[in-house]
Amino acid sequence: MAAPLFLRYPNFHTLLLNSTAPKSLSLVNFANMEASEITEQVEDKTREQEDLNVKKKKIFVAGATGSTGKRIVEQLLKKGFSVKAGVRDLDKARASLSSNNPSLQFVKADVTEGSDKLAEAIGDDSDAVVCATGFRPGWDLLAPWKVCHFDNVSTFFQVDNFGTVNLVEACRKRNVNRFILISSILVNGAAMGQLLNPAYIFLNVFGLTLVAKLQAEQYIRKSGINYTIIRPGGLKNDPPSGNVVMEPEDTLSEGSISRDQVAEVAVEALVYPEASYKVVEIVARPDAPKRSYHDLFGSI
Ligand SMILES: NC(=O)c1ccc[n+]([C@@H]2O[C@H](COP(=O)([O-])OP(=O)(O)OC[C@H]3O[C@@H](n4cnc5c(N)ncnc54)[C@H](OP(=O)(O)O)[C@@H]3O)[C@@H](O)[C@H]2O)c1
Repeated sequence: MAAPLFLRYPNFHTLLLNSTAPKSLSLVNFANMEASEITEQVEDKTREQEDLNVKKKKIFVAGATGSTGKRIVEQLLKKGFSVKAGVRDLDKARASLSSNNPSLQFVKADVTEGSDKLAEAIGDDSDAVVCATGFRPGWDLLAPWKVCHFDNVSTFFQVDNFGTVNLVEACRKRNVNRFILISSILVNGAAMGQLLNPAYIFLNVFGLTLVAKLQAEQYIRKSGINYTIIRPGGLKNDPPSGNVVMEPEDTLSEGSISRDQVAEVAVEALVYPEASYKVVEIVARPDAPKRSYHDLFGSI
């Protein structure tokens, strides 16, 4: 088989051509093409590559019944992925997500129950894991301060730290090498000089949420797994009211974003290789320019 040939054309992406390339992309025709035709073909190629990244991939979503998790599941299905929704309550999941989609499967998965059970749930057919879990405080106001394993009360640490660590370990057991985590801006607020930021104080008073999330992030980053850690600002259920602003870690200390956009960023992170091994902070701003995800992830 002939070796692939790289062609660089001024102002356009790199095209990978080989002997099996369609005639319209051959070297001879390339020289005779108008710039607009070349742009179109480059865009077609990019779209084909994106489709390839999506096709037949099954994504395990932990926290699939959550306000963000649910949106992630819906957007993954819309984009052509298959989804294994990891949920605590199967009936609740079937009621809140369209259960008659053949590309959607439900499995029981409580992240506090250890990595073996989670590995079973992830199975050998998942290509990536998205973690959209978050501790949900119940009526027991002392719950966040209760020490793990004393009873069945899920504390912030059990879910947001140990639960995520369990998921990473389960991925290792199943050789799943792609992990997307929904974390939060300000997780590293102390190092950013944001100790007195009201959001930092508020979230940590209710069970050291941000500390728990930061520890889970550190575990993922040391695990060797290909991660994208998404740190959104305050989450809103409203539809998007501005464009996504993406910044590197420990940059944003305020702002909000629609859960629809957080879900979109999580799904696009699975499509674009530029998102690999990155921590991205996101908010939305009405005056921000609209940028492609290739550009956004590429800029971090
Ligand atoms: N709220 C904000 O403004 C904000 C800002 C930045 C980041 N975040 C973070 O963004 C993420 C998503 O937030 P959200 O408000 O969309 O979440 P959410 O609606 O509260 O959903 C949380 C999900 O986690 C699941 N969960 C809780 N404990 C679990 C366990 N032990 N095992 C498995 N699943 C468990 C819940 O399952 P059930 O449905 O069974 O309860 C639910 O599906 C969270 O990590 C949150 O901390 C939030």
